[in-house]
Amino acid sequence: MSRASPRIDWSPVKIVSAVGARPQFVKLAPIAEAAAAAGVEHVIVHTGQHYDPMLSDVFFDDLHIPAPDVHLGVGSGSHGVQTGAMLAALDGVFDAEQPDWVLVYGDTNSTVAAALSAVKLHIPVAHLEAGLRSFNRRMPEEHNRVLTDHAADLLLAPTDVAAEHLAAEGLASRTVVVGDVMTDVLFKVRDEVAARISPLVAQLGVMPGEHYVATIHRAENTDDPNRLAQITDALAELDRPVILLAHPRLVAKAASNGISLTRGALLAHPPLAYPDLVAALLSCGGVVTDSGGLQKEAFLLRVPCTTLRTETEWVETVQLGWNVLPQQIADIAPAVARPRPAATDAAPYGDGQAATRVLEELLARVDA
Ligand code: UD1
Repeated sequence: MSRASPRIDWSPVKIVSAVGARPQFVKLAPIAEAAAAAGVEHVIVHTGQHYDPMLSDVFFDDLHIPAPDVHLGVGSGSHGVQTGAMLAALDGVFDAEQPDWVLVYGDTNSTVAAALSAVKLHIPVAHLEAGLRSFNRRMPEEHNRVLTDHAADLLLAPTDVAAEHLAAEGLASRTVVVGDVMTDVLFKVRDEVAARISPLVAQLGVMPGEHYVATIHRAENTDDPNRLAQITDALAELDRPVILLAHPRLVAKAASNGISLTRGALLAHPPLAYPDLVAALLSCGGVVTDSGGLQKEAFLLRVPCTTLRTETEWVETVQLGWNVLPQQIADIAPAVARPRPAATDAAPYGDGQAATRVLEELLARVDA
């Protein structure tokens, strides 16, 4: 790898994308498209971290992502078991493929496993969505981000704030700001579904603008039964229907602790495919979530968001007034019912062309 002149003929360049969890499939979509447009060989490796069709297959189908070339079928397990199984399997895949780049996405166990495997095989590794920090070391995603950033050769930061974090950790020379690839795919899908009726409005009879969309899946909210009971109590008492798009982790934890996800204002619903989610966001009156991606998607669609976490990586959404983080359970209802924030045309997440920039940066660093 070097910063030598780019090759004239890109066809021999090979990039391996390693993915495994729902948000990574969304990020993969614009990269797969940009890779095809650039004429590079793009090999998709799916670790199998997410295996439910609604968390995996529907994203490949709806976002027109080519089927994975390799599927490791790793599945669930404790962090060590899951990450270790991926590591063991990825060594052989990367060694056989010998790509110019391994591209890893976001902050899941699949991300850190792929980065570690690639760096130990001396295969250049690039981290997409580098530099995000919550500074909360209790979050598994925070370890995954920090370890991946320090292992990777190229840090593709989505924002200036992310680049500042990397600089503070001594990683400025490996960093380039490319924008946010989730913005690429969101804008495209938003335009495609603009005329579509929200599946929640169609199926559940809730009124456009008069209901909330909620998701809860993070370990810090689901794994402590008291915390989960308090959060669901607060949502059940909100002033409008709350459609809870329930991740399998949430369903399992609620069931094992006798917590109902359909009571009061709260109504559990299976997770949505991505275009349906975007259509649902466009019709709802507000979002309540602990997802990183959904906070940003809400902001980009100008839907007020309330985030059930003590901190966020997407600080711009808070600074611009579109995201509020209630620090106590009692603060949730007033936060959700707050007046609509002031309009803004700020674009901290880029122009929807980040994936093209990612390809340019990768190709510019492949030897002729
Ligand atoms: C993972 C990521 C998180 C990301 C989230 C998006 C890590 C550490 N966390 O969290 O950053 O925001 O994906 O959804 O990588 N399960 C199923 N079916 C599946 C997948 C999981 O039932 O298809 C169950 C598992 O049995 C497990 C639980 O959900 O009990 C958690 O799954 P896991 O992949 O470990 O983490 P997520 O909570 O999904």
